Amino acid sequence: MESIYGKYNDILPQVMEDIVEPIRRFNEDSEKSTGNTVYEHLIYRIKSDPSMREKCRRKGLPETAVSALGEIHDAIGIRIVTGYVDDIYTIVSFLKTLPSCRVIREKDYIRNSKPNGYRSYHMILQTTVPFEDVYGDNPGHYYAELQLRTIAMDSWAALEHELKYKQQIGNEKMIVSELKRVADELASCDVSMQTIRDLIRQG
Ligand code: GTP
Ligand code: MG
Repeated sequence: MESIYGKYNDILPQVMEDIVEPIRRFNEDSEKSTGNTVYEHLIYRIKSDPSMREKCRRKGLPETAVSALGEIHDAIGIRIVTGYVDDIYTIVSFLKTLPSCRVIREKDYIRNSKPNGYRSYHMILQTTVPFEDVYGDNPGHYYAELQLRTIAMDSWAALEHELKYKQQIGNEKMIVSELKRVADELASCDVSMQTIRDLIRQG
C-alpha cells in the first residue's frame, strides 16, 4: 500500500529538520553565551503510516495525504524536554521569533494542568517551505506539533501513557488518584528547583 503521505512522504524529514535545526542552534548559542543549555533533550518523529491511518479513522477523515498533512497537524512531532519550567517559556518565546514559523495553536497545560495531572506546553506550528504542499501551494505549508515539558513532566507522562494502553487493570481508581497526587508533587518540586536555580544564579 502507498504511504498515506503520498508523494509528500519524501520531503517530510527535510521539513522536520528545518524546524529542529534552529532549535538546536538556539541551545548551542545559549550554552556558548551563558554556559547553560535551555533544554536537555530534543526528540522528533514522523508519525508512522499505521498510526496516522488509525488517527484518520478515529477522526472520521478519509485516509488521504490531505487529511494527514492538511487536517491533522501532528504528522511531525517534536518534543523538547527541559530541566526547568522557565526554560520552556524561554523556548516558546524563541519559537515565536522564527520567521518561517507561525503559531496556530497553543495549549498551556502547565498553568492549566489537565484533570489527570498532565502538564506540558503544546504548540502547533505552521511552517512555510519551498516545496509544494497537499493543496498544491508552493511555497507550501506544513504543520508540526511541539510538546515542551520538564524532565519531571516527561517521566510522569510516560508512566501515565503506560496506564492508558493497558486493557484492563486492577486498582485502576487507586492508580489514577496516585498519579494525580504524584503529578502535583512533581509540579511542586519543579517550582522549588526553579527557585533554587534562580537563587544560585543570582548569588
Ligand atoms: P489529538 O487528537 O490526540 O492530537 O489531541 P488534541 O488535538 O486534543 O491534542 P492535545 O494537545 O490534547 O494532545 C496532544 C498530545 O499530547 C497527545 O497525542 C499526547 O501525546 C499528549 N497528551 C495529551 N494529553 C495527555 C495525557 O493526559 N497524558 C499523556 N501521557 N499524554 C498526553
Ligand atoms: Mg495531537
